[in-house]
Amino acid sequence: MGCNIAIDGPAGAGKSTIAKRVAKELSFIYVDTGAMYRAVALYLLKMNVNGQDTEGISKACTGASVSIEYKDGEQIVMLNGENVNPYLRTEEVGNMASVSSANPKVREHLLNLQRSLAAENDVVMDGRDIGTTILPDAQVKIFLTASADTRAKRRYLELSEKGVACDIEEIKKDIIERDYRDMHREVSPLCQAADAVLLDSSDMTIDEVVEEMLRIYREKVA
Ligand code: DC
Repeated sequence: MGCNIAIDGPAGAGKSTIAKRVAKELSFIYVDTGAMYRAVALYLLKMNVNGQDTEGISKACTGASVSIEYKDGEQIVMLNGENVNPYLRTEEVGNMASVSSANPKVREHLLNLQRSLAAENDVVMDGRDIGTTILPDAQVKIFLTASADTRAKRRYLELSEKGVACDIEEIKKDIIERDYRDMHREVSPLCQAADAVLLDSSDMTIDEVVEEMLRIYREKVA
C-alpha cells in the first residue's frame, strides 16, 4: 500500500485546492474522486437518465467506463476513452453527481478504481467517504470543512472570476441542499471518520490550511 492521505468534507470546503497543493509538496499523486462521480453523472445526463430513476441509474452506470490518467501532474478523467475534464465542473453535472452518487451501484462501480490507485501510489485522495469507507487504513485522515456562508462566497468569487453570472443566495441554497443529500444518504454518507482530524478553514488562508495539513502529516507519518 502507498502512503495514503484521505481528505473528506462538504462541497466548497477547498478540498481540491488544498489536496493538490499538499500532493505537490509531498510528490504524491492527487486523486479527485468527486471528478469520477461527475464523469458518471455526465454519462447519465448524456443518456437522458432521470436523477430520480434509481433502477435506470443502476443499469446505465455500468456503461460508464471511468479511468484516470495524469498529464503534467494534472488528473485527467477518461470516460469511455474520452477526456471529459472540460465538461465536469458545471452546476448541472455537480447536482446530478450528488444525486447519482447516492446510488449503491454507482459507488460500487468506482470503488475498485479508487482503492487500486491508493494501493499502487502515494496519494492524497479527496471525496466524501475516503476516510470512512474507501481507505479506512489511511495513515492520515482530515475532515475539512467551512461554514456554508464562506463556501458560497468562495464559489461565487470563483464563478464570477470566470465571467459566469450567478447569484450568491442560489449558490448557498444549492450548497445546503447538496450537503444534506451527501450527509443523509444510506450508503457511505458524508461524515467525519472517528480518527480524522477536523479542520475548519472558514477563517484560514489556503497557505495556512496547507501548512496545517503538512504538519499533521509529519506528526503522524514522518
Ligand atoms: O467534490 P465534488 O463536488 O466534485 O463531488 C461531486 C459529488 O460527488 C458530490 O455532491 C458527492 C459525490 N461524491 C461522493 O459521493 N463521494 C465522493 N468520494 C466524492 C464525491
